[in-house]
Amino acid sequence: RNIYGDRLNSVGPDLSVQKVRDSFTTALDKVDAAKFVAAPLIGGQENTSGAFDVVTAPANRLIKVGVVHEASKADIAGAFDLAKSAQPHWNKLGGAKRADVLNKMGDALEADLNRLCALIVREAGKTWADAIAEVREAVDFCRYYARLAIEQFGQPKMLTGPVGERNSHELHGRGVFVCISPWNFPLAIFTGQIAAALAAGNAVLAKPAEQTPLIAAEAVKLFHKAGLNAALLALLPGRGETVGAELTAHPHIAGVAFTGGTETAWMINKTLAAKRGPIVPFIAETGGLNGLFVDTTALKEQVIDDVILSAFGSSGQRCSALRLLFLPHEVADAYIEGLKGAMDMLLIGDPANPVNDTGPVIDQDAREILEAHLAVCEAKGQVLHRTPMPAGLNGDYFAPTLVELSSADELEREVFGPVLHVVRYDSQNYQPTTDAMAGRGYGLTLGVHSRIEAFAEDIADAVPAGNVYINRSIIGAVVGVQPFGGEGLSGTGPKAGGPFSLIRFASERAVSNNI
Ligand code: NAD
Ligand code: ALA
Repeated sequence: RNIYGDRLNSVGPDLSVQKVRDSFTTALDKVDAAKFVAAPLIGGQENTSGAFDVVTAPANRLIKVGVVHEASKADIAGAFDLAKSAQPHWNKLGGAKRADVLNKMGDALEADLNRLCALIVREAGKTWADAIAEVREAVDFCRYYARLAIEQFGQPKMLTGPVGERNSHELHGRGVFVCISPWNFPLAIFTGQIAAALAAGNAVLAKPAEQTPLIAAEAVKLFHKAGLNAALLALLPGRGETVGAELTAHPHIAGVAFTGGTETAWMINKTLAAKRGPIVPFIAETGGLNGLFVDTTALKEQVIDDVILSAFGSSGQRCSALRLLFLPHEVADAYIEGLKGAMDMLLIGDPANPVNDTGPVIDQDAREILEAHLAVCEAKGQVLHRTPMPAGLNGDYFAPTLVELSSADELEREVFGPVLHVVRYDSQNYQPTTDAMAGRGYGLTLGVHSRIEAFAEDIADAVPAGNVYINRSIIGAVVGVQPFGGEGLSGTGPKAGGPFSLIRFASERAVSNNI
C-alpha cells in the first residue's frame, strides 16, 4: 500500500527467473490443449447456435486457439432486456458494494495470470512481457475504479444553500452501457471499460474485437465468478459492422464506451446522431500520430533505448506508439546510425519464446496495410533501414522499419505497426515543425528528450497531447499514475485510469430539500 493507504499497482512475475519462464511454458501447453470458445454469454448462458469462425494464432496460422460464435439480433435484444432489469438494483447497491465485486475481479485476474498471459500470447501474438503488463493493467483498472466507486458513489455530497434548505449532489449509473474494445489491449481495455461502467452503477453489453474474442470471454466468466450478477454483464462477440453497429443503434442504450480507430469512432458518432431517443454519452479513445522531439542536449543512448521501445515495442501496435521522431539537423545522422544498429539487435519471432522482443502484427489485413505503406515509401526512396527477419516465420510478421520524411505533413493518418518516420528539423527555427505536427489534429502522446526544461515546455505548449513524456519512453501508461487518453482526433476523454474516469458513465442528480 502507498502512503495514502491505496493498494499499489499490481506487480507481475519476473521473466528473468527460470522458474517463472518454466511456469509459462506449462501454462502455454495447457492453453494449447484447451478448447476456448467465445459465444454470446447472456445471463451466464452460452449460446453457441450462431455462425462460427476459428480463431488462429497471429504468430502461426496453423495453431488453432479456439472458436467464436457471432451474436445475433435476438441475442442483443435478450441481453439488453436482462441487463435493463438488473441495473436498478446494482445502481442502488452503492459504490462500496460494487467496489467489493471489482476488487474480487482484480484478485481473480491476478490469481489466473499465467493462464491469461498464455492465452494473450497465443490469441493476440503478444510477447510474454506485454502479456504480463496487460493482465496487470486489467487488475489495476478493477482496483482503481473500485476506489473511485467508493469515493464518488458513496454518500451524496452536501452543498451550501439558504437556511432551511438541504442541497446535495449525487452520482448514479445511467442504465445499460455498450462497451466496444480493440484487439491491441484485448484484456486490459476490455476489462477497464467494463469495470468503469460497472463501478458507476451501469449494466454492460460488451463487444470485443473480432480478432480477440477468446480472452474477452474468459474475462467475462471471471467477472461472473467474482460475484457479479451475470445479468449485469453480457458478452456479445461479432464483427463491428454487424454486432457493433446493431448495439450502437439500439434505441435504449444509456451510453457507449469505445476504444479503437478514429474512423470507427466517426461511424459510431453518426449512428448515435441518427437515433431519435435519449442523447447518449459517447466516450471515444482513438488513434494517435505521436511525435517525439529530440534536441542537441539529449542523452543519445537513453534516446535510442526509449525510441526503440516506443516505436517497435508491441510491434508498434499501441495507440501510444511513436510514429514521428524529430531530430535536429546537427545530430540527425548520428542518431539514424545509432537507431539502425539498435534495430539490428531486435529479436523478431514467436512471442511464445521469451527471448523475442517483438512478435507478429495482428492479422493479414494489418500486414497488408503496412506493406502498402512500405511500398509507397520505397517508391519515394524514403526507407532508411529494416530489421532483418529470421527465415521460416509462418505468421503475419512485418519487420521494424525506419523511414525518412521531409515533414510531418507527409503522414496523413496513423500507421498502426512497427514503422518509425524520422523528420529533420532546424533547431534555430522549430515552429514550422511543431505547426506541422499540431496540424495533423491528433493529440494522444508526445515525447521530448532534452536537458533544457524550457524546450520541453515549448514543445508541449505547441503540440497538443493528452500524455506528455519527458526524457523517457512514450508508452506504457500506468493506471492512476499516468491517466491515459487524448484529444482532437485521438478521443473525447475522460482519461482511462484517472480521477475523472467514471464521470461520463454516470448521471448527476442535485436534490434540493426544503426541510
Ligand atoms: P477498430 O476501430 O477497427 O475496432 C475497434 C472496435 O470497434 C472493434 O471491436 C470493432 O469490431 C468495432 N467496430 C468496428 N466497426 C464498428 C461499427 N461500425 N460500429 C460499432 N463498432 C464497430 O480498431 P482496432 O483495429 O480494433 O484497434 C486499433 C485502433 O485502436 C488503433 O487506431 C489504435 O490507435 C486505437 N486504440 C486507441 C487507444 C486509446 O486509448 N486511445 C487504445 C488502444 C487502441
Ligand atoms: N495505455 C497504453 C500505453 O500507454 C496504450 O501504452
